[in-house]
Amino acid sequence: MVLAIESSCDDSSIAIMEIKSKKLIFHKKISQEMEHSIYGGVVPELASRLHAKALPNILKETKKFFPKLKAIAVTTSPGLSVTLQEGVIMAKALNIALKLPLIGVNHLIGHIYSLFIEKEEIKPMMVLLISGGHTKILNFNGIDKVCEIATTLDDSFGESFDKVAKMLNLGYPGGPIIEKLAKNGINNIALPLPLKNSSSIAFSYSGLKNAIRLIIEENKYKKEDIAYSFQSKAIEHLIFMCKRAIKKYKPNNFGIVGGASANLVVREEFNKLSKKYNFKLFYPKMEFTSDNAAMIARVAIEMYNKRLFTNYKELKVLPRVEFKKCKE
Ligand code: KG4
Ligand code: ZN
Repeated sequence: MVLAIESSCDDSSIAIMEIKSKKLIFHKKISQEMEHSIYGGVVPELASRLHAKALPNILKETKKFFPKLKAIAVTTSPGLSVTLQEGVIMAKALNIALKLPLIGVNHLIGHIYSLFIEKEEIKPMMVLLISGGHTKILNFNGIDKVCEIATTLDDSFGESFDKVAKMLNLGYPGGPIIEKLAKNGINNIALPLPLKNSSSIAFSYSGLKNAIRLIIEENKYKKEDIAYSFQSKAIEHLIFMCKRAIKKYKPNNFGIVGGASANLVVREEFNKLSKKYNFKLFYPKMEFTSDNAAMIARVAIEMYNKRLFTNYKELKVLPRVEFKKCKE
């Protein structure tokens, strides 16, 4: 079995997965959403302190599996450096105490593998990653064969929901709050479609966010209608750019991952797209859309099988990582 630790943002999570069967043996996650809610976003120092408290409590519950462990995996990048550090410290302590090899996992690859928990990989696959920190279209062909087709020029998809919710004083995380509120709204606000006149495949959410700020200042519209109009335009932009990528690369498999892949309107729109362009669509189970250690454990199994270990000294936090661009 492998034990995996995730602490890249505001979820403290540990998972244990069986290497051969890929069965999830243990999985627990303590979310800090409540604690950050009053600030309208994640406060890194607070998050770090909460991880330092939560992770050892979860670890206690896994002790009976220690004799069966073959490796310790931990998210090392990307994320908040002070929170990633909490997981890395724990992984290093376990490396010394249990004399087990270390595996450093890229959180974004983790999100891709949220599609393959207790399953085999499906590849090649085009993957749309929509989370609080990232909005990317990736081409996936295995853990070490991921390239980037498109990314955001400014804010990410989930972040724009968080910011709009904050401007409307609705709390954090904004995604589920806006989605729920939009159910009672109508599309009565004209908003700009981002990058409409650009020929590239890219995302941008800051202009839309600013347009919403001005709308809120006008004090003319209901919060429900602002939520509906914003969500519709944010998703229209996703679909517009993904359509471009799909026409260009013609994938047979398309996955949508990351916290915002829980959005049911996103899922509905992509279901329509999959029928039109004839590709197979994949989503993670709802419980694995947001940050979790099960997806990190699933990547760790691939890395274990390829003996991709990192030694104690070299295991370091890397707040930012880039994927290489896909060939045109
Ligand atoms: O993957 P995740 O848990 O953390 C990161 O790695 O960033 O994603 C969290 C993000 C937040 O910005 C949250 O507002 C967004 O995902 N999110 C959603 C929904 N549920 C979560 N965005 C839109 N609609 C949702 N239903
Ligand atoms: Zn994430």
